[in-house]
Amino acid sequence: MDAAEKLIQNHELSKKEYIELLKGWEKPKVSRKLTEEAVRLRKQYYGDKVYTRGLIEFTNYCKNDCYYCGIRRGNRHAQRYRLSGEEILDCCENGYALGFRTFVLQGGEDPYYTDERMADIVRSIRRDYPDCAITLSIGEKSYESYKLFKEAGADRYLLRHETASEELYRRLHPEEMLLSHRKQCLYDLKALGYQVGAGFMVGSPGQKMEHLAEDLIFLKELQPQMVGIGPFIPHHETRFANEAAGSVGLTLFLLSVIRILLPKVLLPATTALGTMDPLGREKGLAAGANVVMPNLSPVKNRKQYDLYDNKICTGEEAAECRDCLEQRVLSTGYRLVAERGDALL
Ligand code: 5AD
Ligand code: FES
Repeated sequence: MDAAEKLIQNHELSKKEYIELLKGWEKPKVSRKLTEEAVRLRKQYYGDKVYTRGLIEFTNYCKNDCYYCGIRRGNRHAQRYRLSGEEILDCCENGYALGFRTFVLQGGEDPYYTDERMADIVRSIRRDYPDCAITLSIGEKSYESYKLFKEAGADRYLLRHETASEELYRRLHPEEMLLSHRKQCLYDLKALGYQVGAGFMVGSPGQKMEHLAEDLIFLKELQPQMVGIGPFIPHHETRFANEAAGSVGLTLFLLSVIRILLPKVLLPATTALGTMDPLGREKGLAAGANVVMPNLSPVKNRKQYDLYDNKICTGEEAAECRDCLEQRVLSTGYRLVAERGDALL
């Protein structure tokens, strides 16, 4: 039995088998077989539904200095902004009217938003929108902080592990950042009852198939409810400015692999995928993704949340972005639904 067959049967592989599988990602016969199985599984669990999350990028201040990221603290040219609690609630109001039932509050690790401030914001959204899910994506915090946010009403947490390889993690981050701590955060979040999202970049500088195999093994072990992946895209104000971007084809292949690995997982077709290829998100949905995340941030700040070059959806109003994505979803034969879209597991 080859690695693809084995993955379909067992929903996991050994490291050696993952590497073999990944090295063959360009073989049309293999990718076709995996895509077919991924689509079969996503339809079995989710039918033709695509869940939508309203993304609110509420601060681009960050105390970290991840080498790949445009809003790392070392980028003196980044124009920084913060949204007030009121501005965040305005985004939610706008989003609710557009049919969003999940709000994702994403930001850099910004000490201005103390635990108490953050909990207040979460409580006010919880109070005004009792039927909506609240997702936080604000980085590494203590168990106690995560507990406070949970009690304030947060349901989900996105924290990409970025890479499960110690070796690659060191190439991508300054030494004060530790993969072990990041992983601990993910386990803490799970223990607290959050629906948890991990994930990684595809094609980050120095990444080998071996590293991606480690990502897949880590995902299987963690059993996250959500997995966010997208191609690495260079940002001109980083040390990786001249590195090659990640491959769309390999990202799509990995989306199918992850769908098979974790059949019920919530898997977004990401903005980075749409940035690398005008039809990237449609292709992502066709490869097994079942979530899209239109931008709800105020248009005046969109361009400032500048993680990588040429990021899409920075000029559109929330309604335009939602409608644009709705058309894109329909073109793939799926439909956008106005539901919370909680994890099935
Ligand atoms: N290219 C692609 N994705 C990036 N991210 C940060 N910088 C880049 C980049 N240059 C991703 C990281 C982070 C998420 C918010 O954005 O994976 O977790
Ligand atoms: Fe945002 Fe098209 S999805 S503008």
